[in-house]
This record gives sequence, C-alpha cells and structure tokens, in this order.
Amino acid sequence: LRTAILISGRGSNMDALIAAARDPSFPAEIALVLSNRPDAPGLAKAKAAGVATAAVDHKIYAGREEFERSLQLVLETYRIEFICLAGFLRMFTPWFVGLWRGRMLNIHPALLPSYRGLDTHARALADGVKIHGATVHFVVPEMDEGPIVAQAAVPVLDDDTPQTLAARVLAQEHVIYPMALRLVASGAVRIEGNRVLAAPTPR
Ligand code: GRF
Repeated sequence: LRTAILISGRGSNMDALIAAARDPSFPAEIALVLSNRPDAPGLAKAKAAGVATAAVDHKIYAGREEFERSLQLVLETYRIEFICLAGFLRMFTPWFVGLWRGRMLNIHPALLPSYRGLDTHARALADGVKIHGATVHFVVPEMDEGPIVAQAAVPVLDDDTPQTLAARVLAQEHVIYPMALRLVASGAVRIEGNRVLAAPTPR
C-alpha cells in the first residue's frame, strides 16, 4: 500500500512510521513524505532516511482549494493510495477529505472525543484528569473526529508539566501509529459506521 506521510514540523511520528515500514512484513510502504512547510525539520530527516520528499507551500496559494489541488497532483504523481497525517497543521476541505475517505489516518494527542483541538496537554492538566493519551483515527470533515483505530492511555502525574505529559504521550504515539497503520493496511480491520471493527476472518 503506497502511503504518504503529511507533516508540518519535526516528524517524530513520521520517523516511527518509516522505521516500522522497513520491516519487509509491514503491509504499507512509505512512498512519500509531503510537507506544507518547505522548512519542516521532518523533511530533512525523511530525505536522510532515503524516502522521497515534496513540499507544497500553502502560503503561495490563493485558497484552500488551490492548495489541495496541488497536493492532490503530487499525491497522484507518486501513485499514493493511503495518507497518514502526522503533525500536519492544515485543515482540509470536505472535497479533499471525500477523495480520501477511508484512506486517511490522523494522530491526535488526546483520548478522543476528549480534548479535540490544540493545547491538549495543558487542558488535561488544568482539568485534573488522571488518565490522558493519544488516538489514531480516520479523518472525516469535522476536526479530530472520525472512526477510532487505536488509543493509548498514560497516567497523569502530580508534578507533570505540559511538556513532561506531552513526552509521555508522544512515546505512546510512536507505538500506536505504526500499529494502527498495520491493522488498516493489512485489512485486519474495517470501518462500520463510526466504529473500526475486526474484519471477518476469511474461511
Ligand atoms: C503529535 O503530538 C501529534 O499527535 C500531533 O502533532 C504532534 C506531531 O509531532 N498531531 P511529530 O511532528 O510527529 O513529532
């Protein structure tokens, strides 16, 4: 399954996906890393890892649609079949999400449906929750919604700062994102309504 990872920044989840996909038995290959920021540190890391890279700078486009048409052209050029968003900080139009329906995953640093949006770790600390975590989900037009493939929970400690909590969550992100991509790419799971369930085992 020819997969593109879309990033805007440092790309540590991208690293984890690239590393997992090196295993010959992994059911997806990372065929492209694409960034909306030409200076994203993750792009250099992907290059160093021998993965094809491209940048589509959103700032040079008049609007979201123009940006996405250009993105789509690049994805088609690389014959991409599946997308993993990994710290990609642009919202998509329903048009683009529709094109990739059931073929695009995102990772969010919270236990959805709690803490959609930004600053999840600071908000979790402010609320005094004792459990926090990360979620891999299929992308739908609404931000941080969509069928959930995998989640990981971590404890919130009394002396946590947003930074220490983020680091504990991030370590789990690096575990569940490759796991989720493996489940989806291998056909082990299927979407049913808003749920991701085990695929029926072939007889
Ligand atoms: C991660 O915390 C991810 O959950 C969120 O953005 C951050 C990206 O980090 N969507 P990285 O670029 O993968 O290191």
